[in-house]
Amino acid sequence: MKVKLCILFGGPSSEYEVSLRSAASVLSHLHTEKYEVFTVGISRKGEWFRFFGSYAQIEDGSWIEDPNNIPCVLSPDTSHHGLLFNDGHVEFIDVVFPVLHGENCEDGAMQGLLTLSGIPFVGCSVAASANTMDKAITKTFAERAGINQAKSIVCFASDFLSDVQTQTARAVETLSLPIFVKPARTGSSVGVSKVKRAEDLEKAVMLARQYDEKIILESGISGQEIECAVLGDAHGEVITSIVGEICPAQEFYTYSAKYDDENSLLYIPARIPQSAAQEVRTAAETIFRAMECFGLSRCDFFFSSDGQVIFNEINSIPGFTSISMYPQLFDASGLPYADLIDRLIELAGKR
Ligand SMILES: Nc1ncnc2c1ncn2[C@@H]1O[C@H](COP(=O)(O)OP(=O)(O)O)[C@@H](O)[C@H]1O
Ligand SMILES: [Mg+2]
Repeated sequence: MKVKLCILFGGPSSEYEVSLRSAASVLSHLHTEKYEVFTVGISRKGEWFRFFGSYAQIEDGSWIEDPNNIPCVLSPDTSHHGLLFNDGHVEFIDVVFPVLHGENCEDGAMQGLLTLSGIPFVGCSVAASANTMDKAITKTFAERAGINQAKSIVCFASDFLSDVQTQTARAVETLSLPIFVKPARTGSSVGVSKVKRAEDLEKAVMLARQYDEKIILESGISGQEIECAVLGDAHGEVITSIVGEICPAQEFYTYSAKYDDENSLLYIPARIPQSAAQEVRTAAETIFRAMECFGLSRCDFFFSSDGQVIFNEINSIPGFTSISMYPQLFDASGLPYADLIDRLIELAGKR
């Protein structure tokens, strides 16, 4: 019998569009003989619809206008174990793959609903999702695990902005320019700035605060950007992929460099010494375990010009678009895209 698989896409997040692309890619790679697929789209505003149209409509965003969409919700009632429609009809679901990114979707909120539903789902628990989403919390886990990181300051934007001169002087003295300013809990480079002049820090903090009151100021690292895909259970078997490298077409890996710029290059394997690649894989597994991740995560690092491996961040639902690193890294490690999805769904069932 086919597994009844619900794919969630979209979502009330600044990474709505990325999710559409990831979901279209996951859907087009699935072993269709194994799954009965229920596609459920969540609008930017947070409305839920069972969607019956094509993957192309998901990818280009026109799915939302499809006249055949039917409102439905994922029921938190465990006796439903599935999708609940307005007429009271229930569709039983075996497993959910939330192909969602960003706030409300990857930060534990959605995982809370999934947990209450009693339906096995792909990805991290509520706590691990919330912890990995927050770059400041991630830093404390990484520090405790003895992982090398860039120097940073965590603060609330309001505190920085209430005394810009003192805060700017402190940041420049502690971190040295250039400084990266980031919202603590977003992804896809949304709200991230590279600041080269002290007088531009204020503007960068104001941009970041549009997404999160909690912000990170971090020493800029010059070097290569390295990523490692991880699969497994923090309390059981964990597999790391070979490592890849991103060469952004822009000054850093901005939203448009990630998703729209064809000149951003990926190198698989990364162009770093074997010993550094091994160090990345070991650190990726250490972080995955320390943060009690489950299912999947992508761990991102820098390989600095002076030869150091420096941890940057972990993503609990990494991009799954056709050009995304996560599936490509496992493919290059001998686990093709469709088999990778099978593994993630199998793992979800073991939760
Ligand atoms: N400390 C840093 N040094 C150099 N580049 C950085 C640093 N922090 C972030 N970046 C650049 O900004 C991009 C986005 O930052 P990141 O921390 O990965 O946030 P996001 O969760 O939005 O991907 C990175 O891919 C990298 O290009
Ligand atoms: Mg990143």
